[in-house]
Amino acid sequence: MTFRLGRWGWDELEVIKSVLQEGNLSSFYRNPYGGEWVQKFEKSFAEWLGVKHAISVCNGTAALHTAYLACYIKPGDEVIVPPLTFVSTASMVLACGAKIVFADVDPQTYNINPESVKELITPKTKAIVPVHLIGQPAEMDALSDIAEDNDLILIEDACQALASEYKGRKAGTFGHAAVFSFQETKQISTLGEGGMIVTNDDDIAERCRRIRNNAAKYFQDVDFFGYNYRMTEAQAAFGLVQLSKLDMFIEREIENAEYSIKRLPDAIIPPFVHPNTTRHTYYIVGCIFDEEEAGMSRDEFLRRVNEKGLNELRPGRTVGGGYSEVIYHLPYFQKHKDCWEGVCPNAEELPKKWLWYDWNRYPSTKHDMDKLVEGFNEILELG
Ligand SMILES: Cc1ncc(COP(=O)(O)O)c(C=O)c1O
Repeated sequence: MTFRLGRWGWDELEVIKSVLQEGNLSSFYRNPYGGEWVQKFEKSFAEWLGVKHAISVCNGTAALHTAYLACYIKPGDEVIVPPLTFVSTASMVLACGAKIVFADVDPQTYNINPESVKELITPKTKAIVPVHLIGQPAEMDALSDIAEDNDLILIEDACQALASEYKGRKAGTFGHAAVFSFQETKQISTLGEGGMIVTNDDDIAERCRRIRNNAAKYFQDVDFFGYNYRMTEAQAAFGLVQLSKLDMFIEREIENAEYSIKRLPDAIIPPFVHPNTTRHTYYIVGCIFDEEEAGMSRDEFLRRVNEKGLNELRPGRTVGGGYSEVIYHLPYFQKHKDCWEGVCPNAEELPKKWLWYDWNRYPSTKHDMDKLVEGFNEILELG
């Protein structure tokens, strides 16, 4: 039995009941490594991913901040990130007092372009943060080589790529550290918000555990700066149940995406799957809208999608234009031009052409996917 969105149900409710009956909602005051559920969830997640350590936090943004700090990113450093991502990939660099350097993306995969990264390396460069955008892994071989050759830290933002694979290996297992988000719209959730840092490095792991817990190991032994980024017992218990369903969720997400992609009209160009992407999870199906073929602008198409009510049929982002701007065009970054650098012509073009949908992530049936594609066709046929 599942509830409204079909992504959680009685199993999650039962485990939350157990947490309440046990009575420990957050046991960090007793144990700096967290309570039973937090530790169980971390262990299971690390095992599932195939890494040594998983450190839970309260959201993906906190995971980025913690990972950056744990990797010693500090004022004076430069961190290379792509400009088409959720804002916190970049803004958490600023939270560490470092400077953002935006590298351009590959126009086909939408992911950071290793050639662009190479050109931006300076003596101040400390880290590269590839984002595996909407389910497709970034070019990890080339990026790992660049990081190694230049003695740089590699931190994967895998928030949109849970269970995606590059050359048969899971996203999140390549860098010195990687981060995941369990916000409600992600493939699995921890009661609406949550995050995880993963690493094989004992020192990074220990620093992450301390940074999320006000830098304390045991109460008063604070010897650097930390935050309260802890996950609660109920969140972890909820996440543990969700993790047991992850494979089923991902299979459904991919099956629905592939089913709809095969049926798209010519004006909607499906996502390019790089040969190194052995598993694209289609966190979002990110297409390109061909205005010439369609005989109408992308924005007019989206207006009609809304008018037709296609965006009211499903929860989530449903059908939209994806990120509307590169991060450095957002007002804050335009006002504070001293905190970043970079010009990314390929990235600037994509928001004008993108057509994204994520119906596939919800428990849609093939009938739902048909309804979506038929809706697209009807709009285009009317012209
Ligand atoms: C690529 C990326 N990075 C970071 C985040 C931040 O995660 P959260 O929303 O859990 O803070 C998200 C989530 O929206 C994301 O998609």
